[in-house]
Amino acid sequence: MVILGAGPAGLLLGNLLHRNGIDCAVLERADRMHVQTRARAGFLAAETVRTLDRHGLAEGLHRRGRRHGSCEFRTDDGRFRLDYGSLGRGEQHTVYPQQDLVTDLLTQYLDAGGRIHFETEALAVLDASGPRPSVTVRGADGRPGRWRAGYVAGCDGRHGATRRSLPPGAVRHHRDHGVSWLGLLVEAPPSLDAVGYAVHDRGFAGHMARTPEITRYYLQCERGTPADAWSEEQIWDELDLRMRAGDYGPLNRGRILQRAVVDLESDVVEPLRHGSLLLAGDAAGLISPSAAKGANLAVLEAELLARALIDDLAHGDGDALSRYSARALARIWRAQEFSQWMIRLLHSSPGSDGESLFRDSLRRSRIESLRTSRTHQDWFAENYVGL
Ligand code: APR
Repeated sequence: MVILGAGPAGLLLGNLLHRNGIDCAVLERADRMHVQTRARAGFLAAETVRTLDRHGLAEGLHRRGRRHGSCEFRTDDGRFRLDYGSLGRGEQHTVYPQQDLVTDLLTQYLDAGGRIHFETEALAVLDASGPRPSVTVRGADGRPGRWRAGYVAGCDGRHGATRRSLPPGAVRHHRDHGVSWLGLLVEAPPSLDAVGYAVHDRGFAGHMARTPEITRYYLQCERGTPADAWSEEQIWDELDLRMRAGDYGPLNRGRILQRAVVDLESDVVEPLRHGSLLLAGDAAGLISPSAAKGANLAVLEAELLARALIDDLAHGDGDALSRYSARALARIWRAQEFSQWMIRLLHSSPGSDGESLFRDSLRRSRIESLRTSRTHQDWFAENYVGL
């Protein structure tokens, strides 16, 4: 069994297969330091925590993670707060930086004797439709190589070798949401004890805690904006404006540690099984960061895939892997639908044409319904934290 990629999906899958006696090796193109320090997501859903708990992989997040259950919407019509942790199923997020989760999973995998090859880039998956697929690689020494396996698990993200090796039968559902965000990692304590969503005519702004000292901000920007287009001063002034700091208090400023522009897109492959090639995580389906679902879906899919591979390899259940694809896709599409709803909620439609005005009126009505309807708030909480 060869697993491509040492992100949340690949590492959880490796842990679960290895401890069930299934011989596997993880091939990761980056070095160990990069894998363990790459800042990505940080909001773990309650189901994700339960999954990691179930497999004894949650010690770090229980020790250093922090429960989080509130979000605050700020619009022209004022602000309101939703304590989603006491709505819907009463579930909260656990704020735990992804690099810490990945480090925990990697450490557990290596301590258990798991095999991983860093700086080993998969180039292509060959003969995936047959019983003995192979993976061509470029090793750390730059030399070509080839891995043969019974199965290949593609957990190498949206731009990895798996996506490049999909057979003609693969169907790709893609949507460009037409919105771009400048993502910022800031060395400053969170400015509010909630996830902040600011809807403004100038564009969306978002605020998410990462640690007591680090905060993630998002600023909607024009498509094609370079990450370094704005000075730090301009960024803080724009964040103040859109978060309405004049009305609700100043933001805690600090050094901007990382900045990157992300175009909000969704990109799902169907099915997730192609012969001996299985997909999980972003390689299976990319989701926009609007509802913090990506890493949570990666964990959910990795556990589902591990169970299916164990049923197939250890118990001879020949249908398990096809069932995996159907079950994972059902959860992926549920998450995609909510993520789409969030994108429509958070972004005003520019322009004064009838279509833009109509869409913006719908958006205002949705926010007002979320502000006033307990039923709507319960639906929001269940989907926001759930999968
Ligand atoms: N060969 C080997 N490794 C590769 C290749 C390749 N050709 N291409 C990518 N990789 C590695 C990357 O270096 C990365 O370590 O695959 C890994 C993919 O990890 P993620 O992008 O984190 O993907 P995944 O595990 O699916 O988790 C997805 O987690 O990063 C968050 O929210 C984010 O939605 C995303 C979720």
